[in-house]
Amino acid sequence: MPNSYIAGLGHYLPERMVTNKDLEKIMDTTDEWIVERTGINSRHWADMSVDSTSNMGTRAALKALKNANLEASDVDFIIFCTLSPDYSFPGGGVMVQEQLGIDTIGALDIRNQCSGFVYGLSVADQFIKSGMYKTILVIGSEIHSTGLDKTTRGRNVSVIFGDGAGAAVIRATDKPGHGVLSTHLHSQGKYAEELVVLEPGSSSLNRTEYLPEKIYPIMNGSNVFKHAVTRFPEVIMEALNKNGYSPSDINLLIPHQANLRISQFIQKTMHLRDDQVFNNIMKYGNTTAASVPIALSEAWQEGKVKEGDLICLAAFGSGFTWASALIRW
Ligand code: ACO
Repeated sequence: MPNSYIAGLGHYLPERMVTNKDLEKIMDTTDEWIVERTGINSRHWADMSVDSTSNMGTRAALKALKNANLEASDVDFIIFCTLSPDYSFPGGGVMVQEQLGIDTIGALDIRNQCSGFVYGLSVADQFIKSGMYKTILVIGSEIHSTGLDKTTRGRNVSVIFGDGAGAAVIRATDKPGHGVLSTHLHSQGKYAEELVVLEPGSSSLNRTEYLPEKIYPIMNGSNVFKHAVTRFPEVIMEALNKNGYSPSDINLLIPHQANLRISQFIQKTMHLRDDQVFNNIMKYGNTTAASVPIALSEAWQEGKVKEGDLICLAAFGSGFTWASALIRW
């Protein structure tokens, strides 16, 4: 049975950088509040005259393919992870398929918010192991900036999120002990409304009258925080235990970039050194399904992911959903 490994990574950030000082001009917030509570200094916002969730994903995918020394025509299947597709339907995967010009391969959309990429990696891993596909693109891409309440009313959410895309090329390998060692997926739907956008959804009675408080994300921040700091270490330990490792064996943990305070909490709980945890939320904010592949791609670019390293990916987010993957690079 083949194993899957990550053959190439790429990411794309829209050009426009928005600092906390810029946000101070449009809502009642301060740089100090944002930095102290979230660790975020800036984020990128898409330019809708050139960017879309799908085309940002395609740009990241092209870089990942280049880094894998592959062509788009080598791809057998696309897995597109987002909570902010170009349209309500269809999903973004088919757009990427068209933009890459790879008629008529399958494209699957994953709606698992912050855990989307790790779920997508798990699906790709199963397809590779079963022998169904040899080369799969897993993409996380988000445009939050057009869907945030950027007034003072929405400030507890809107200061956190940013736009961006990351992609990975997943391929088959026969090298023993190399690649994705295991993936672990969880959800708890009783907390679905703790971080939610209520409309548009099929439960809306009157789709022509959307209230602002229903079309923008709403979040019970303290409860999300409480669950995140429990579930992250739990799902990381699940992956380590499954493979007979302990936290000290991890070369690099790439946690979903939810909030720097959450990452710091995980690091402290798991007794990890600074060089074992990668964070870039300071520059990009929380990019949901894109955050893990952007962080992994950036860490790889900076030489922090090397052959033979034990890499752990972990995510937690709306749903609630949470997930981890352990990879021998
Ligand atoms: N600027 C200034 N003041 C603000 C802002 C803001 N942007 N947002 C909220 N406040 C105010 C509130 O109005 C409130 O004021 P009050 O005390 O006068 O009523 C005060 O700050 C505290 O508000 P809380 O919402 O209780 O703020 P909290 O301390 O919980 O921090 C935060 C909010 C940062 C979102 C925190 O709850 C958190 O980190 N939660 C984790 C959730 C998270 O990281 N989500 C990311 C997405 S989910 C995921 O990816 C896992």
